[in-house]
Amino acid sequence: MSVRLNTNYLSSFVSSEELANIQPQVNVAHELLTSRTGAGNDFLGWTTLPVDYDKEEFARIKAAAEKIKKSCDVFIAIGIGGSYLGSRAVIEFLKSPLYNNLPKDTPDIYFAGNTISAVAIDELLKICEGKDVCINVISKSGTTTEPAVAFRVLRALLEKKYGVEGARERIFVTTDKAKGTLKHFSDEAGYETFVVPDDVGGRFSVLTAVGLLPIAVAGIDIDGLMNGAAAAMEAYKCPDLAQNDCYKYAAIRNILYRKGKTTEILVGYELYAAMLNEWWKQLYGESEGKDQRGIFPASVIFSTDLHSLGQYIQDGMRNLFETVISVENNPVVFPIPDDPANIDGLNFLSDMDLNQVKKTAMQATLLAHVDGGVPNMLIELADRTEFSLGYLLYFFELACAISGYMLGVNPFNQPGVEAYKKNMFALLGKPGYEDARAALEARLG
Ligand code: PA5
Repeated sequence: MSVRLNTNYLSSFVSSEELANIQPQVNVAHELLTSRTGAGNDFLGWTTLPVDYDKEEFARIKAAAEKIKKSCDVFIAIGIGGSYLGSRAVIEFLKSPLYNNLPKDTPDIYFAGNTISAVAIDELLKICEGKDVCINVISKSGTTTEPAVAFRVLRALLEKKYGVEGARERIFVTTDKAKGTLKHFSDEAGYETFVVPDDVGGRFSVLTAVGLLPIAVAGIDIDGLMNGAAAAMEAYKCPDLAQNDCYKYAAIRNILYRKGKTTEILVGYELYAAMLNEWWKQLYGESEGKDQRGIFPASVIFSTDLHSLGQYIQDGMRNLFETVISVENNPVVFPIPDDPANIDGLNFLSDMDLNQVKKTAMQATLLAHVDGGVPNMLIELADRTEFSLGYLLYFFELACAISGYMLGVNPFNQPGVEAYKKNMFALLGKPGYEDARAALEARLG
């Protein structure tokens, strides 16, 4: 089992009777999902994706990744939200947040179009100077402003550097199979395209071409990821909470939420988990935060954040619970050196592996936070491999769907994301938004 939910630290917050009492609601959520009769049921492609994916496209992803690896020093994945968080999370988790700085035989990877920043794009253009570059623009709608602007800039860079013909060989597009500006433009320009399936929303798309092409460029085994997700899909078929850790996680979240624990903090103990936290925040925030409901998803990396947010978690407002990800098998060991003079008084740690120190810090923190009134769950991940991470990604996606149905929301839409876009388009003068513009301008100070 690649993922195990450890609830040993939860007993003073959630009783076994409460879990038994919520089982019927879990069963309803399970039925809604598996019979495809719940809200948002046209976005359930991700549920079977680990086994039911386009094998021909999967092979093309691998071939494109090989071509990219051979032809560039810098690979840029352009996308925002679900169109970049998954790939970045996987690359940083399995390779490193310092991937670009480490020795490797794969290109440096940068992410663009995930913000509106002159500084960011200007820096990226400087990084590209004198380098061979390939880009993958990823947008399901094909109309999102941030990636569209970055694509315009980077396409111009490639066309200037390699000519229109040469650029064509270096531009890869992941978008809708038939509709949208980006698809039409790509077909006209002759770019190689990959598909975001109609029935998979952005935040559930990491195991489609959206995530897989950048991940494969980083030299990560995408078969391993899919196999792990497929194993999780198989493992979580029965809704019985005694047998299903994924559903148990979803159920416990809902029990805690109803007790006023309205913020969940995902805790990692490795810097390589920081972007996984970001992926998880989008998944849960966009899926559950609607209709004036939902747990607010927050995240920390310990022990780093024990020296910042640690104070609040231990002692601030008691509306929090924590879900800690613990990677169990750590092959990279680092014994703390001995110092015969013991000038720093640290010899009680001499020869101790840093993994042991980290584990002890985690145990100490778990006990302290539980004593401080913060419920803690532990997700034990067997190891840092493609298989286990694929398993964990599916675990979180499935739990999110079950949890959202238990909350009574549609976990697969994101109507709230549109509000800022409409205002921004009106204020920027996009054709079709003229009426709203004057009213909005009148409200600005
Ligand atoms: O999860 C989602 O649906 C969103 O975060 C989208 O991925 C994000 O808004 C980007 O959309 P698009 O891929 O259409 O550019």
